[in-house]
Amino acid sequence: MNYETPLFFQVMEYANAAGRDVIDMVSGNPDWEPPEALREGFTEYAELEPDRLQYPPSGGLLELRQEIAARRGVATDQVVITNGGGGANYLAMARALERDSGNEILLTEPVYPYYPGKTTMLGGTQAFVETASNGQLDPVDVRNAANSNTAAIVVNTPNNPTGAVYPERTMRELVAIAEEYDAILISDEVYDHYDLSEKFTSALSIDSAHRIVTNAFSKSMAITGVRVGYAILPPDLVEAAKSRHMLVNVATTRPGQYAVLNTLRETPPEYSERNRERLRERVVSFTDALEAAGAAYTRANGSFYVMARFDGYPGTLENVARLIDEAGVAGMPGEAFGDSRTAWVRFALVTPRVKEATERLANYFE
Ligand SMILES: Cc1ncc(COP(=O)(O)O)c(C=O)c1O
Repeated sequence: MNYETPLFFQVMEYANAAGRDVIDMVSGNPDWEPPEALREGFTEYAELEPDRLQYPPSGGLLELRQEIAARRGVATDQVVITNGGGGANYLAMARALERDSGNEILLTEPVYPYYPGKTTMLGGTQAFVETASNGQLDPVDVRNAANSNTAAIVVNTPNNPTGAVYPERTMRELVAIAEEYDAILISDEVYDHYDLSEKFTSALSIDSAHRIVTNAFSKSMAITGVRVGYAILPPDLVEAAKSRHMLVNVATTRPGQYAVLNTLRETPPEYSERNRERLRERVVSFTDALEAAGAAYTRANGSFYVMARFDGYPGTLENVARLIDEAGVAGMPGEAFGDSRTAWVRFALVTPRVKEATERLANYFE
């Protein structure tokens, strides 16, 4: 698999050029409104003095870092505000590789394809640990794959693409393995507000100098275009990460940080509860239809995604293109996520047209 040129944009371009109505189940862009305070924050910002249109502190607005630190129970100094979760993952992986404690990054399979892409870009090598058919990760397999060259173990919970949510014992074991091999556990938790199982455990709940947690407001506030995320690093890793962030990005969007801070302060938990409820309904309606169509599917315990396997229709790029042209539904080929799910297609449930998509798929495969 060539992870250096992500397939995502290729599929989107194909769907856009299809010359017919296509239901987009490729992108992870929430289709619902952000919290009201987000738009209010931007409106307020437009009236501010010109000095607010200049560089913010490179590591992020102090008040935003303080707000995140208070919510997550860490020191403000440990928080770096990044260009989304993607920026946070980049900093975390770069930091792990710079420590001179190995050159290999352990990834899970199926994998969020940007991790292997970033690993290669950063000069690291990758090894994969396969997850179970329900997406769960067995820490024993991680321990067997870990070695003295392991620089980092990168996990994502709730998971894209499997929808798995790792229980506390898995997270605890992963931190312990990172400590044992002088590696860093990088826990990407961008879907933490979409835990449908109530079993989500943040790696932050396990105190360690060997774990970095990355997150973003892209999904939780339905603002993937705003580009505000963060990394929480152990004290001894944070300064070098800030320097890299400064050299690579200077800083991330100041208006975006302001609007996110306003949203954190003003938004009640009901906003996320409503989003989870909506997603739960979509998962049920989509998987019921897959069941009726005789397809195999993953049960999403979190995140936005369901993987489906249709008999005699492997999840190749060609078949995904056929599905766009002939059924009018766009998904992501399973092969984009590595070798273990090549028979599968991933569908993102962040469209109001989930029901219509299920009908199109049922008609197509009947
Ligand atoms: C697992 C995972 N991590 C990170 C990201 C990127 O997040 P952001 O848009 O905040 O950079 C995504 C986006 O889909 C994702 O699925």
